[in-house]
Amino acid sequence: MIRVKSEAELQNMSVACRAVAAVLNEVKDIVREGANARDIEDFVLAKFREMNVKPAFKGYRGYKYATCVSVNEEVLHGAPLRSKVFARGDLVSIDVGAVYDSYYGDGAITYVVGDVDEVGKRLMETGQKALERAISVVKDGVRVGDISYAIQSFVESNGFNVIRDYVGHGIGRQLHEEPEIPNYGKPGTGVKLSSGMTLAIEVMICEGDWQVSTLDDGWTVVMTDGKRSVHFEHTILVTDDGVRVLTQF
Ligand code: MF3
Ligand code: CO
Repeated sequence: MIRVKSEAELQNMSVACRAVAAVLNEVKDIVREGANARDIEDFVLAKFREMNVKPAFKGYRGYKYATCVSVNEEVLHGAPLRSKVFARGDLVSIDVGAVYDSYYGDGAITYVVGDVDEVGKRLMETGQKALERAISVVKDGVRVGDISYAIQSFVESNGFNVIRDYVGHGIGRQLHEEPEIPNYGKPGTGVKLSSGMTLAIEVMICEGDWQVSTLDDGWTVVMTDGKRSVHFEHTILVTDDGVRVLTQF
């Protein structure tokens, strides 16, 4: 059984999620031509300290950083290295998690450096809208497959593909809880959601084929065909008639 969260638990999650939302919003000023991924890491570490939350990813399964910064064909788990210098047209995905009093928040967003070509623009819009659509179907009683289908059908009808090897997830007392939330699936299938559950819905979509590979660093996930990918994620609370987006900014 998937546990629903108490008010006290939700309060802690809200603190973690507000910190995630704040950094995801404010990093947009750092994602500029000539800046690098370490600038994002440094900013997030400082901001989290100021907001009295801890980075959730640092130390998770041996991951060394607070942020994942994944550029263009990198899908996720990219390290925030100084050598990753942003150039005009880059699609920079920033994934970040926070913990407050043992409760987690998780979110991701993709920003463009300057401006990007037409396809890149459409990929961005499709990812963003797919997350909005996914969130809009959630309420007490819907199934995980309803979320998955909302994402997949919208993304594929726009000529793009969804990543299959990585999924959204329940979240709360741990970064990853049940259920898994794939970006593909059939309506009316899967776990039934109820009011009080908290989920991280992660839309990960790509320009080309959905196959991914992991680089020799053991972490960075890239598109095997080298085409671009974007990532949009919110932590939400399921309610009787909809959701509360905990990482909204
Ligand atoms: N948002 C991702 C996840 O939920 C990133 C976490 S992986 C980490 O699942 F290792 F970097 F922490
Ligand atoms: Co996540």
